Amino acid sequence: MDPITAMLEKVLAEVASDGSGETAAYIPELAEADPDLLAFGLVGPRGRVFTAGDESAPFTIQSMSKPFVLALALELHGRDEVFRRVGAEPSGEPFNAISLEARTGRPANPMVNAGAIATTALIPGADVDERTGRIVGMMSKFAGRSLWIDEAVYASESATGDRNRALAHLLKSYEIIQGSVTDAVETYFRQCSVLVTVRDLAVMAATLAFGGRNPVTRDQVVSERVARDVTSIMASCGMYDFSGEWMLRVGLPAKSGVSGGVIAVAPSQFGVAAFSPRLDPHGNSVRASRIVEILSDRFGMHLL
Ligand code: DON
Repeated sequence: MDPITAMLEKVLAEVASDGSGETAAYIPELAEADPDLLAFGLVGPRGRVFTAGDESAPFTIQSMSKPFVLALALELHGRDEVFRRVGAEPSGEPFNAISLEARTGRPANPMVNAGAIATTALIPGADVDERTGRIVGMMSKFAGRSLWIDEAVYASESATGDRNRALAHLLKSYEIIQGSVTDAVETYFRQCSVLVTVRDLAVMAATLAFGGRNPVTRDQVVSERVARDVTSIMASCGMYDFSGEWMLRVGLPAKSGVSGGVIAVAPSQFGVAAFSPRLDPHGNSVRASRIVEILSDRFGMHLL
């Protein structure tokens, strides 16, 4: 075994016995996920992929879709147009909070649901399928392979998505969203339901780490400027109301998802992803967060 894989295995073994936290309860597909799944991936500058644990277990990307949809919106519309509609400030609130600026209705940032729905609404298309097609196409370039949607998860997200629908209607009332609220929110549910593995996510994170160029396929997926903007937002807002403490302890831009994944970006060094379904009260995976923290500590990856 090469030394990096051996190191990944060792980190996995260190967190394996932690059974704390609970799987997400709001839809059966997440509630019934095997809580013992544990996986870790890392991609370096020359595109070598290192993985350990349940590396081929598929799970839905959930909120880890938000940075990639933000990247697409920035590519299509530019920074000014996007940040006219959504802020760049940490909300200090849970992911599904209302978090809208009192006077303008502008969501705090694109990583909380309100801001993510506003960002999704900026992706053009005649209908949900066309918008989703653009988003999945972009995510596939980040991952270096064709991704697809788990239709059962999408159906459950849509069936339980009234809070997100309410947020979208509020956004429309402030004219942050133009066009169909239904299209925006169903596209958001579909983007959250894209299936990935920890390997895919590590390559996606690495594409952000290396200035928008996928280090495996060598494809320049987004501009260096867009990759930097997205990574900056992840640094301040990616872990919801734990973002400040995360920066203090781990020191890497990151994004979590309710399925139990965490991606982290070590600029010009590594893309990292970890996965384990049990979540802490902030909605961040207990063991995946711990894995990234140990890695950052052991390799001196803290940016500051
Ligand atoms: O909006 C929702 O409720 C989910 N589909 C995504 C939320 C999510 O991943 C929050 N992250 N921890």
